[in-house]
Amino acid sequence: MSKAAKVVASIAVDDLTQRQAKAEHKRLGEEIRHHDVLYHEKDAPEISDAAYDKLRVRLKAIEARFPELVDSDSPTQHVAPTPTTAFAKVRHTRPMLSLDNAFTDEELQAFIDRVRRVLERETDLKPDAEIALSCEAKIDGLSISLRYEDGEFVQGATRGDGTTGEDVTPNLMTIKDIPHKLKGRGVPKAFDVRGEVYMERKAFQEMNRRQEAAGEKVFANPRNAAAGSLRQLDSGITATRPLRFFAYAWGEAEPRAWKTHSEYLKLLKEWGFKTNPLTRLCRTPDEVRAFYREIGAERPSLPYDIDGVVYKVDRIDWQERLGFVSRAPRWAIAHKFPAEQARTRLNGINIQVGRTGALTPVAELEPVNVGGVMVARATLHNADEIERLDVRVGDMVTIQRAGDVIPQVLGYVPEERPKKTEKYRFPTKCPCPLKTEVKSEEGGVVRRCSGGLECPFQQVERLRYFVSRNCFDIEGLGGTHIENFFNDGLLKIPGDIFRLPERVDEIRKREGWGDLSVRNLVSAIEARRTISLDRFINALGIPLIGEATAKILAQEYGDADDWLAEMLKAARERKKHPEDVKKEKAATEVGESYGRLCNIEQIGVTTADAMCEFFSEGHNIEIIRDLRRQLTVEAVKRRVIAADAPLKDKIVVFTGELSTMTRDAAKARAEELGAKVTDSVSKKTSLVVVGENAGSKARKAAELGVQTLTEEEWVKLASC
Ligand code: IVH
Repeated sequence: MSKAAKVVASIAVDDLTQRQAKAEHKRLGEEIRHHDVLYHEKDAPEISDAAYDKLRVRLKAIEARFPELVDSDSPTQHVAPTPTTAFAKVRHTRPMLSLDNAFTDEELQAFIDRVRRVLERETDLKPDAEIALSCEAKIDGLSISLRYEDGEFVQGATRGDGTTGEDVTPNLMTIKDIPHKLKGRGVPKAFDVRGEVYMERKAFQEMNRRQEAAGEKVFANPRNAAAGSLRQLDSGITATRPLRFFAYAWGEAEPRAWKTHSEYLKLLKEWGFKTNPLTRLCRTPDEVRAFYREIGAERPSLPYDIDGVVYKVDRIDWQERLGFVSRAPRWAIAHKFPAEQARTRLNGINIQVGRTGALTPVAELEPVNVGGVMVARATLHNADEIERLDVRVGDMVTIQRAGDVIPQVLGYVPEERPKKTEKYRFPTKCPCPLKTEVKSEEGGVVRRCSGGLECPFQQVERLRYFVSRNCFDIEGLGGTHIENFFNDGLLKIPGDIFRLPERVDEIRKREGWGDLSVRNLVSAIEARRTISLDRFINALGIPLIGEATAKILAQEYGDADDWLAEMLKAARERKKHPEDVKKEKAATEVGESYGRLCNIEQIGVTTADAMCEFFSEGHNIEIIRDLRRQLTVEAVKRRVIAADAPLKDKIVVFTGELSTMTRDAAKARAEELGAKVTDSVSKKTSLVVVGENAGSKARKAAELGVQTLTEEEWVKLASC
C-alpha cells in the first residue's frame, strides 16, 4: 500500500473527504475481492475472518456515507460469500445477571435494610456506619459483554439467557463508543467489560424516517431499534445505525485492581469507555432518594430513554459477601420509574381489522410528547373497554406509555369534557370493503368481521403476519409492500410470496423499486425456502396458535408431514363428534389423533378445536399444500431419551428462587434426565421443586398432593 493510501486507511469514515472516500472505496473493493479469491478459489486465506469482516464493515460504512460510490462491482452488491446463517453461541465467563426491581419507596427501603442486616451479620459493620451506594441512571437498551485480552477487543456477545449469548463481534466493532484497544494502566489481562448498547431518541427517530422512506422495517422504540440493529447478519447495516454504548459492570477481570464500583467507573473512563454521567455516590438513604427524584425530573429532557435508577453497593468486598440469589445480585437493585402519562385530545376512534377479523378500536390523538416519544395513536382494546371508560370523541384523555407497551388510554378528564359529546357507538358494519356484519363472539369481548377468508383486510394482515419476524422473517417485504402487492394482484395467498422471484420484471417497474432492492428481496425470499417446523406452523396464523404453541407442536410431531396428517385426522375425528367434548366426551374417545392433540401439555380442548376448525377448511389446506410444494420444512431434531432415564415421562415444575443454580440450568438438567419441564402445576405434574420464597405453585402442589422436593433434595436427585 502506498504511503498516502496508508494514511487514508487510518482515517475514521466520518472524517473522510469525498476524494479520500473514493480512493479508499476503490482500495477496499480490490482488497476484499483479492481475499475472496484466496479464500474461495485457492483455499488459502491470508487474513483472519475478523480482519476480513473489518474490511467489509468499513466499505459498507463508506457507502452509507457516500451512496454515489456504490457500483455494481462493489463486493457489497453481491451476497456475502460466506453468509452467516445464525450467530455463534458464546458462553459467558461469568453469568450476566439481571436485577431485582423496586417500584416503591418501601421496596427500596427493604433493599437497604436487607443489605444492612446481612453486612452487620457477616462483617464488622457497625449499626450506624454508612453503606455507600453507587447510583446510576438505568439505560433502556440491551446489555452486552465485551471480551478484552491484553487490552485488545477480541469478542463481544449479547446477554442471551445470561449464561450463553450470541457472538456479535463484527457488529460491535462498528460502534464508535467501543474502543478496539484500551489505553492507560491497570487494564486486566483477561477482562470482560459489560454495559448497555442503546440509541439516542433523536437518532432513533431519524433512522425510522429513513427506514420508512426506504420501505424498510420501522421500530417501535429506541430499545427495539438498538436490539434489531445489533442482531444484523450484515455488519455493514449495523454500521449505518446510530448505536452508542455505556460501560457499567464487568465479568471476568484478572487481575482486578479496583476495590469499589465508583473506582471502577473512573478507570473505565481512563481506558477509553463512555460511562453514564448521571451517576452519583450516595452515602445515606436520603441522598439516594434525592438522586432518584432528580433523575426522574430530568428524564423527559434526556437524549435517551431511561426506565429507572440502579443502586449498587460500592464496596466490592461487601458485594462479594452479599452474593446473589437466583439470577440477581443481592448487592444491587433497579428502582423503576412509574409509567409515563400525558393528557391530550381524542380526535377520533378508528377500527382496525386484525388477521383473525378481530376489530380493535384505536384512539386517534392530538400528537403529544410522552416521555420523549410522540404519541398520536393509542389502543382502546375493545368495545367493552370503551364502554367502561366512556371516552368520547372530543374528550381530553389521559394516556400512558410503559416500556415498549403500545400506548393506552386510561380515561377522560371529566372537567374538560366538551358540552356536546356523544356516547361512542361501536360500528355494526366492518370497515372492510365487504362491509360485513360485525359479529360479537359468544361470551367474549371480541367483535369480529364476518367476512372470514374473503375479507381483503384480513388477507393482508395474514400475509403481513406470515412474513413477520417470528414467522418467515422476510426482510425487505414490509407491511406497505404487502398491501400494495396485494392490491395490485401480485400477492393473494402466502405461496405467492415464493412466486415473486418469477415476477421481478413487474416489480422492478414499480415505484420505489430498483435493481438492488429487487435483488435483495429475491435473496431474502430464497433464503427462506427452508424453514423450521415451528416457524412454519406459527406463520399459518391459525387462531390461538402463536409462537409458543407452535414450538410445542413442532416438538411433539417432529416433522411437517406427520403433523399435517395428524391435524387432518384430528379434524375429521372432531367433525364426526360435534358434541361439546369438555362436557360430553373425553377427547381420547373422539379419536386417537384428536386425543393426542388435546393431551399435549399446555394445549387444551379449546386450542385443539381451533386447530380442527382450521383444518376443516379446504381453502386452508390448499394454502398449506401450495407452500409445501415450494418449501422445505425442516424436521425437529428430537431429544433422544434413554429408556432408563431417571425422570423419563415425568412432568417437573420449578418454583421459587434456587440458590445453587439458575432456573435455566435446572430445567436443562431435568430435561437431560428425561423430564418434561412446564410452568404450571396440575394433576398431571409429577414433581415440584420448591425454592426460596415460593408462592402459589407450591401451595397448589400441596393441595393436589403432588410430590415436592426442596432444592437440596433436587440437587441430590439430579446429582448436579
Ligand atoms: S448492572 C449485576 N447497571 O438493566 C448487575 N444494569 O434489569 C447487572 N441496565 O440487564 C446490571 N443500566 O441491561 C446495570 N447502570 C446499569 C444499568 C443496567 C441499564 C440494564 C441491564 C441489565 C438490566 C437489569
